[in-house]
Amino acid sequence: MKILLTEEQIAEKVRTLGAQLSADYRDKNPVLIGCLKGCVVFLADLMREITVPHAIDFVRTSSYGKGRVSTGVEEAEIFDVNIRGRHAVIVEDIVDTGLTLGYLTEVLTKQEPLSLKVCALLVKPGAHRAPVTIDYRGFDIPADFVVGYGLDWGERYRDLPYVAVVDEQDA
Ligand code: IMP
Ligand code: MG
Repeated sequence: MKILLTEEQIAEKVRTLGAQLSADYRDKNPVLIGCLKGCVVFLADLMREITVPHAIDFVRTSSYGKGRVSTGVEEAEIFDVNIRGRHAVIVEDIVDTGLTLGYLTEVLTKQEPLSLKVCALLVKPGAHRAPVTIDYRGFDIPADFVVGYGLDWGERYRDLPYVAVVDEQDA
């Protein structure tokens, strides 16, 4: 396993994203919609860097199973998210093909929010198979499979405080 982003690098980026969101959503009481499960660590840190009132809600999608190749959204739960008439921000751990984000954007837009933006900590550019706009982006990373800071490989490694690239020895 090779560390790609250290705890310090991540913390600094989350502070920057939090400051941007705080400025843009002053007096808007936005809803941050976390995409389970990968968002949990990022969202928990991001919330505490946002200095304006906001709410949180969750959706859950799964596409990867135990593998490392995105096959699109296979399952999605929207729970009781209702963003009609609200400003909303989808909070994603990582955008790879963009299929998950494309799907969520479509579903959530139907609820007629006042606005719907996207905040993603990690973006694998060039790999996008769906047209997605990422309004608040943390790091552009290579196309390698990464774990840590909430991201898993078959439910392992979510607890790592840094982001690392896995190789076959980590299986
Ligand atoms: P997409 O639909 O291909 O954009 O994939 C998005 C989802 O796949 C993310 O929300 C993650 O849950 C998962 N994912 C994509 N790349 C990685 C990775 O490198 N490590 C762990 N999970 C990943
Ligand atoms: Mg995810």
